[in-house]
Amino acid sequence: MMLQIPKVLTKAQVAECRAILDAGPWVDGNLTSGFQAARAKTNEQLPQDCDAALRVGEAILQALEANPLFVSAALPQVILPPMFNRYGEGMGFKDHVDNAIRRDPVSGRRLRTDLSATLFLEEPENYDGGELVVNDLYGDHVVKLSAGDMILYPSSSLHHVTPVTRGRRTASFFWIQSLVRDDAKRTMLLEMDVAIQRLARKVEADDEGVLSLTGVYHNLLRQWAEV
Ligand code: NI
Repeated sequence: MMLQIPKVLTKAQVAECRAILDAGPWVDGNLTSGFQAARAKTNEQLPQDCDAALRVGEAILQALEANPLFVSAALPQVILPPMFNRYGEGMGFKDHVDNAIRRDPVSGRRLRTDLSATLFLEEPENYDGGELVVNDLYGDHVVKLSAGDMILYPSSSLHHVTPVTRGRRTASFFWIQSLVRDDAKRTMLLEMDVAIQRLARKVEADDEGVLSLTGVYHNLLRQWAEV
Protein backbone atom coordinates (compact mmCIF):
# COMPACT_ATOMS: atom_id res chain seq x y z
CA MET A 1 0.00 0.00 0.00
CA MET A 2 1.13 3.52 -0.75
CA LEU A 3 -0.41 6.14 1.48
CA GLN A 4 -0.08 9.91 1.70
CA ILE A 5 -0.14 11.30 5.22
CA PRO A 6 -0.92 15.02 4.99
CA LYS A 7 0.29 17.63 7.46
CA VAL A 8 2.62 15.50 9.56
CA LEU A 9 4.29 18.84 10.27
CA THR A 10 2.63 22.26 10.14
CA LYS A 11 4.15 24.93 7.91
CA ALA A 12 5.53 26.64 11.05
CA GLN A 13 7.17 23.37 12.15
CA VAL A 14 8.61 22.87 8.66
CA ALA A 15 10.15 26.37 8.82
CA GLU A 16 11.66 25.67 12.26
CA CYS A 17 13.03 22.31 11.12
CA ARG A 18 14.49 23.78 7.95
CA ALA A 19 16.27 26.55 9.86
CA ILE A 20 18.03 23.90 11.96
CA LEU A 21 18.70 21.53 9.04
CA ASP A 22 19.97 24.18 6.63
CA ALA A 23 22.67 25.16 9.15
CA GLY A 24 23.69 21.50 9.59
CA PRO A 25 26.96 19.82 8.50
CA TRP A 26 25.83 18.34 5.13
CA VAL A 27 28.15 15.74 3.56
CA ASP A 28 28.26 13.63 0.40
CA GLY A 29 25.42 11.08 0.72
CA ASN A 30 27.63 8.25 -0.49
CA LEU A 31 29.67 8.21 2.71
CA THR A 32 26.86 6.14 4.22
CA SER A 33 25.88 3.98 1.24
CA GLY A 34 26.39 0.35 0.42
CA PHE A 35 28.02 -0.67 -2.86
CA GLN A 36 24.90 -0.74 -5.05
CA ALA A 37 23.45 2.50 -3.67
CA ALA A 38 26.75 4.33 -4.09
CA ARG A 39 26.60 3.74 -7.83
CA ALA A 40 22.98 4.90 -8.03
CA LYS A 41 22.94 7.94 -5.78
CA THR A 42 24.14 11.54 -5.90
CA ASN A 43 22.89 13.66 -3.02
CA GLU A 44 23.86 15.19 0.29
CA GLN A 45 22.97 13.87 3.73
CA LEU A 46 23.29 14.96 7.33
CA PRO A 47 25.38 12.66 9.55
CA GLN A 48 22.93 10.66 11.68
CA ASP A 49 24.55 11.66 14.94
CA CYS A 50 24.81 15.43 14.30
CA ASP A 51 22.85 17.75 16.57
CA ALA A 52 20.61 19.04 13.73
CA ALA A 53 19.55 15.52 12.67
CA LEU A 54 18.91 14.44 16.26
CA ARG A 55 16.83 17.53 17.15
CA VAL A 56 14.67 17.53 14.03
CA GLY A 57 14.42 13.73 14.08
CA GLU A 58 13.00 13.87 17.60
CA ALA A 59 10.41 16.48 16.53
CA ILE A 60 9.34 14.25 13.62
CA LEU A 61 9.02 11.17 15.85
CA GLN A 62 6.83 13.13 18.27
CA ALA A 63 4.60 14.31 15.41
CA LEU A 64 4.27 10.75 14.07
CA GLU A 65 3.30 9.29 17.42
CA ALA A 66 0.49 11.84 17.66
CA ASN A 67 -0.75 11.15 14.10
CA PRO A 68 -3.66 8.62 14.15
CA LEU A 69 -3.53 7.90 10.40
CA PHE A 70 0.19 7.10 10.56
CA VAL A 71 -0.22 4.85 13.60
CA SER A 72 -3.17 3.00 12.06
CA ALA A 73 -1.48 2.57 8.68
CA ALA A 74 2.04 1.67 9.80
CA LEU A 75 1.28 -0.15 13.08
CA PRO A 76 4.84 0.77 14.04
CA GLN A 77 6.90 -1.49 16.25
CA VAL A 78 10.06 0.59 15.83
CA ILE A 79 10.61 3.76 13.81
CA LEU A 80 14.26 4.12 12.85
CA PRO A 81 15.68 7.60 13.57
CA PRO A 82 14.72 9.99 10.75
CA MET A 83 17.54 10.82 8.33
CA PHE A 84 17.85 13.83 6.05
CA ASN A 85 18.89 14.31 2.45
CA ARG A 86 18.88 17.02 -0.16
CA TYR A 87 19.28 17.01 -3.90
CA GLY A 88 20.70 20.05 -5.70
CA GLU A 89 20.66 20.55 -9.47
CA GLY A 90 21.81 17.43 -11.32
CA MET A 91 21.44 15.17 -8.27
CA GLY A 92 19.17 12.11 -8.16
CA PHE A 93 18.91 8.51 -7.03
CA LYS A 94 18.45 5.76 -9.62
CA ASP A 95 16.26 2.69 -9.23
CA HIS A 96 16.94 0.63 -6.11
CA VAL A 97 15.30 -1.42 -3.37
CA ASP A 98 16.08 -0.33 0.19
CA ASN A 99 18.15 -2.66 2.40
CA ALA A 100 15.98 -5.23 4.17
CA ILE A 101 17.83 -5.00 7.47
CA ARG A 102 19.21 -1.91 9.17
CA ARG A 103 20.89 -1.45 12.52
CA ASP A 104 19.10 0.92 14.87
CA PRO A 105 21.83 3.37 15.98
CA VAL A 106 19.97 3.96 19.27
CA SER A 107 19.49 0.38 20.49
CA GLY A 108 22.05 -1.41 18.30
CA ARG A 109 19.30 -3.88 17.31
CA ARG A 110 18.93 -5.11 13.78
CA LEU A 111 15.51 -4.19 12.38
CA ARG A 112 13.53 -5.27 9.34
CA THR A 113 12.46 -2.44 7.06
CA ASP A 114 8.77 -3.03 6.25
CA LEU A 115 7.83 0.53 5.31
CA SER A 116 9.80 3.41 3.84
CA ALA A 117 8.77 6.99 4.49
CA THR A 118 9.65 10.28 2.80
CA LEU A 119 8.62 13.50 4.54
CA PHE A 120 8.91 16.43 2.14
CA LEU A 121 10.53 19.56 3.62
CA GLU A 122 10.54 21.87 0.57
CA GLU A 123 7.55 23.27 -1.31
CA PRO A 124 7.17 21.60 -4.73
CA GLU A 125 7.10 24.90 -6.63
CA ASN A 126 10.60 25.69 -5.39
CA TYR A 127 12.26 22.92 -7.42
CA ASP A 128 11.82 20.99 -10.68
CA GLY A 129 12.42 17.25 -10.86
CA GLY A 130 13.11 15.49 -7.58
CA GLU A 131 9.98 13.34 -7.83
CA LEU A 132 9.93 10.10 -5.88
CA VAL A 133 8.82 7.38 -8.32
CA VAL A 134 7.65 4.12 -6.73
CA ASN A 135 7.00 1.08 -8.88
CA ASP A 136 4.54 -1.60 -7.84
CA LEU A 137 2.16 -4.11 -9.51
CA TYR A 138 0.06 -1.23 -10.79
CA GLY A 139 2.92 0.67 -12.43
CA ASP A 140 4.86 3.82 -11.57
CA HIS A 141 3.55 6.26 -8.94
CA VAL A 142 5.04 9.75 -9.08
CA VAL A 143 5.10 11.52 -5.73
CA LYS A 144 5.94 15.16 -5.03
CA LEU A 145 4.17 16.53 -1.97
CA SER A 146 3.77 19.82 -0.11
CA ALA A 147 6.26 20.58 2.63
CA GLY A 148 5.10 18.80 5.80
CA ASP A 149 3.33 15.96 3.94
CA MET A 150 4.64 12.39 3.93
CA ILE A 151 4.40 9.29 1.76
CA LEU A 152 4.52 5.74 3.17
CA TYR A 153 5.34 2.86 0.80
CA PRO A 154 6.44 -0.76 1.09
CA SER A 155 10.21 -1.02 1.49
CA SER A 156 10.10 -3.94 -0.94
CA SER A 157 9.26 -1.64 -3.87
CA LEU A 158 11.67 -0.53 -6.55
CA HIS A 159 11.90 3.28 -6.44
CA HIS A 160 14.01 6.23 -7.57
CA VAL A 161 14.29 10.01 -7.27
CA THR A 162 14.35 11.85 -10.60
CA PRO A 163 17.19 14.35 -11.11
CA VAL A 164 16.58 17.87 -9.82
CA THR A 165 16.82 20.38 -12.67
CA ARG A 166 16.10 23.60 -10.72
CA GLY A 167 16.32 24.52 -7.06
CA ARG A 168 16.88 22.02 -4.25
CA ARG A 169 14.80 19.25 -2.73
CA THR A 170 15.16 18.72 1.04
CA ALA A 171 13.45 15.78 2.77
CA SER A 172 13.52 13.43 5.71
CA PHE A 173 13.53 9.69 5.03
CA PHE A 174 13.33 6.76 7.39
CA TRP A 175 12.11 3.19 7.84
CA ILE A 176 9.59 1.44 10.02
CA GLN A 177 9.50 -2.11 11.34
CA SER A 178 5.80 -2.82 11.61
CA LEU A 179 4.01 -5.05 14.10
CA VAL A 180 2.45 -6.62 10.97
CA ARG A 181 5.11 -7.59 8.45
CA ASP A 182 2.75 -8.50 5.59
CA ASP A 183 1.69 -5.49 3.51
CA ALA A 184 -1.63 -7.04 2.42
CA LYS A 185 -2.64 -7.84 6.01
CA ARG A 186 -1.60 -4.39 7.20
CA THR A 187 -3.62 -2.80 4.38
CA MET A 188 -6.75 -4.77 5.35
CA LEU A 189 -6.36 -3.72 8.98
CA LEU A 190 -6.16 -0.06 7.94
CA GLU A 191 -9.24 -0.38 5.72
CA MET A 192 -11.14 -2.05 8.53
CA ASP A 193 -10.08 0.57 11.07
CA VAL A 194 -11.16 3.40 8.75
CA ALA A 195 -14.51 1.69 8.03
CA ILE A 196 -15.22 1.12 11.74
CA GLN A 197 -14.47 4.77 12.51
CA ARG A 198 -16.83 5.87 9.72
CA LEU A 199 -19.59 3.63 11.04
CA ALA A 200 -19.01 4.72 14.63
CA ARG A 201 -19.67 8.34 13.69
CA LYS A 202 -23.14 7.40 12.36
CA VAL A 203 -24.47 5.25 15.18
CA GLU A 204 -24.97 5.28 18.96
CA ALA A 205 -21.85 5.05 21.10
CA ASP A 206 -22.77 1.52 22.31
CA ASP A 207 -23.79 0.13 18.90
CA GLU A 208 -23.40 -3.67 18.99
CA GLY A 209 -22.27 -3.94 15.38
CA VAL A 210 -19.43 -1.46 15.90
CA LEU A 211 -18.49 -3.17 19.16
CA SER A 212 -18.34 -6.53 17.42
CA LEU A 213 -16.31 -5.25 14.44
CA THR A 214 -13.89 -3.53 16.82
CA GLY A 215 -13.42 -6.89 18.55
CA VAL A 216 -12.70 -8.56 15.21
CA TYR A 217 -10.14 -5.85 14.36
CA HIS A 218 -8.25 -6.43 17.60
CA ASN A 219 -8.42 -10.19 17.28
CA LEU A 220 -7.04 -10.05 13.72
CA LEU A 221 -4.25 -7.79 14.99
CA ARG A 222 -3.61 -10.31 17.79
CA GLN A 223 -3.34 -13.09 15.17
CA TRP A 224 -0.98 -11.18 12.89
CA ALA A 225 1.15 -8.99 15.15
CA GLU A 226 4.72 -10.04 15.93
CA VAL A 227 6.07 -8.42 19.07
NI1 NI B 1 15.41 4.24 -1.24
